[in-house]
Amino acid sequence: MNELINTILERRSVREYQPKPVDRGQLFFLVQAGDFAPSAMNQQGRKIVALSSRARIDEMLAAGGIEGDPYYGAETAIVVFADKDCIAPAEGASLSLENMMLAAHAMGLGSCWIHAVTRIFTTEAGKELQKNWGVPENFFAVGSIAVGTPAGPLPDPKPRKQGVVTIID
Ligand SMILES: Cc1cc2nc3c(=O)[nH]c(=O)nc-3n(C[C@H](O)[C@H](O)[C@H](O)COP(=O)(O)O)c2cc1C
Repeated sequence: MNELINTILERRSVREYQPKPVDRGQLFFLVQAGDFAPSAMNQQGRKIVALSSRARIDEMLAAGGIEGDPYYGAETAIVVFADKDCIAPAEGASLSLENMMLAAHAMGLGSCWIHAVTRIFTTEAGKELQKNWGVPENFFAVGSIAVGTPAGPLPDPKPRKQGVVTIID
């Protein structure tokens, strides 16, 4: 089977991480994978912000008033914002997130989409943090990923729903 197809089929959402950030070289490839995702009319209307320490992740969670750890102990998180004035902002940002999750798996890392950012950046403190990160206010948070070395074996694949795929000749 083709290597990329294997990566797609074998990726899993990882919910337990070793307490260390992603190596800087690997992080560079991850964000590059996100940056190279397609976008409507090639508008590339997204901002990709990588947080490479637990302190930065905790600062973001505090800004959103989030208790507990939706990042499952990961010490690297990547947040993707999209420009609301683009043609298809959420779609383009989602493709960046998927590219990064696949790239993570291909490099032997685990990842998981974390949705909490859609709330975090609607609070006053969240908006302030967004501004401090240099992300303009016409950008909204579409999603984020936790990424790191899995702390255990990958979960089994989820059974696929019947009737999702139709091939018509
Ligand atoms: C839009 C979206 C939001 C998600 N939000 C979360 C989340 O906040 N926390 C979480 O643990 N998993 C989240 N997930 C991961 C899904 O739960 C996961 O993809 C699904 O259970 C299938 O498992 P798999 O990724 O291992 O195939 C999200 C996935 C998507 C696509």
